[in-house]
Amino acid sequence: LLKDPVDRIIYIKGARHPSIPLPCDLYQPERLNSRGVHMDDAGTLDALMSRMNQPIDLIAPQQISTDTLSAMIANAQKAFVPWSRMSVDNRAAILEIWADLLEEQRETALQILVKEANKNIFDAINEVREAVDFCRYYAAQAREQMQDIILPGPTGEQNILRMDARGIWAAIAPWNFPLAIFMGQIAAALVTGNGVIAKPAPQTPIIGKFAVDLAYQAGVPKDVLQFANGGADLGKALVEDARINGVVFTGSVPTARHIARSLLIDDNRPLVPLIAETGGLNAMIVDSTALPEQVVRDVIISGFQSAGQRCSALRLLAVQDDIYDNLVEMLCGAMDSLNICMPDRADCDVGPVIDKASYDKLMGYLETQKNNIIKSANVPKNGLFVPPTLIAIDKVSDLQTEWFGPIIHIVKWRRGGMDALIAQINNSGFGLTMGVHSRIARVTQRVEAQARVGNLYVNRSIIGAVVGSQPFGGEGHSGTGPKAGGPHYLSRFCVERTISTDT
Ligand code: SER
Repeated sequence: LLKDPVDRIIYIKGARHPSIPLPCDLYQPERLNSRGVHMDDAGTLDALMSRMNQPIDLIAPQQISTDTLSAMIANAQKAFVPWSRMSVDNRAAILEIWADLLEEQRETALQILVKEANKNIFDAINEVREAVDFCRYYAAQAREQMQDIILPGPTGEQNILRMDARGIWAAIAPWNFPLAIFMGQIAAALVTGNGVIAKPAPQTPIIGKFAVDLAYQAGVPKDVLQFANGGADLGKALVEDARINGVVFTGSVPTARHIARSLLIDDNRPLVPLIAETGGLNAMIVDSTALPEQVVRDVIISGFQSAGQRCSALRLLAVQDDIYDNLVEMLCGAMDSLNICMPDRADCDVGPVIDKASYDKLMGYLETQKNNIIKSANVPKNGLFVPPTLIAIDKVSDLQTEWFGPIIHIVKWRRGGMDALIAQINNSGFGLTMGVHSRIARVTQRVEAQARVGNLYVNRSIIGAVVGSQPFGGEGHSGTGPKAGGPHYLSRFCVERTISTDT
């Protein structure tokens, strides 16, 4: 098991697929927590944590003005030309150096993630590993995909299909994966020959700046990748600027809609792509044949890991009525065993939420649900701790909002009601993740055939998609696709050109 958790983050150099399982896959069921570490490893982990807890200066990068932003875009337009003409092999090699540097400096990255983003150590390790995976995976994909394709010439001409860069991309990242998603967006745009203006979430600029500085050390020219730290006004100016040739965004549905509209305001602006990943009302369907211990483990991981602050997190647990009471009892027991504390402790399962605004919103919602709460875990008094909570609802449509925290809603369904249940879940219009727990193949196949989601998980947790193995992203309100960490992602960052020459 986890002998040295930090070493496990390394994506084997040059490999195309991650060969190391996620810590949560190594999870010990009897622990019923979300950390995925064996008790025997506590010693090693303590050593890591004491290094983690050394003082570190967290200096927030400067916010930039819209005038500075405008100058950045002008510089990027010039710098992108030689970058786009560089061989794909060179750009891919720079991405790989970026990944190497992050691996080398992983402990600093972990420290920033724990302190700035409230990640517990295992979430932080997963995130660093995912960032490394994105760089290596997109580097390998670009080498393959950015080669000219010779197409048939039925009338004697020569036809070539070529992938080229689009220009300057705006990359707008969320605070919940401020390193992995941030670097994934940038890596995809850069390796395909584009320039990037990268805007971190206002809550997490320090880790963003750290990543961009590593990119410069790796050899990315400073004007090709520029760091634009700022709030919503800066984001608005960025996407409304007609010199931006594409936007890659992860965040809320309203912001994605706003960006989509902004791209169409100016009739003279070229039509440019938006890659948006948003949220989900993610459900897990459990039938009476499922193994309760496994379900409990996967529900706890899916709903409460990262304090529920993942777009993939479980929001709605739909349980067949004959096992409902038993499962609820087991879940309540498991919730009692969660260690809820500050994330700088090795044994932290659930830490505080990201900020006061999020805390107030979630606590306000819990207040309205007082009469429906089945279980609310005990949390420390000081800090932004939202209690992991289980809320009973009567029907699927009672849940209309994505509450971005450790809150699971639970609903009962009856034998014969599976198709209607799936239809109701589909009806939310979101389509990101879904889970099914059943020992009957016919049941899981039925869900597979009917679920309108981007990532379906059978008899396992519904979070933690692995780059290159589980391409991630949804449909409907959940996003535009293509899937991050999948083989179709890079092509959206490119224009395709066909060159036909008479011979
Ligand atoms: N990719 C993450 C997961 O699968 C969510 O952003 O949990």
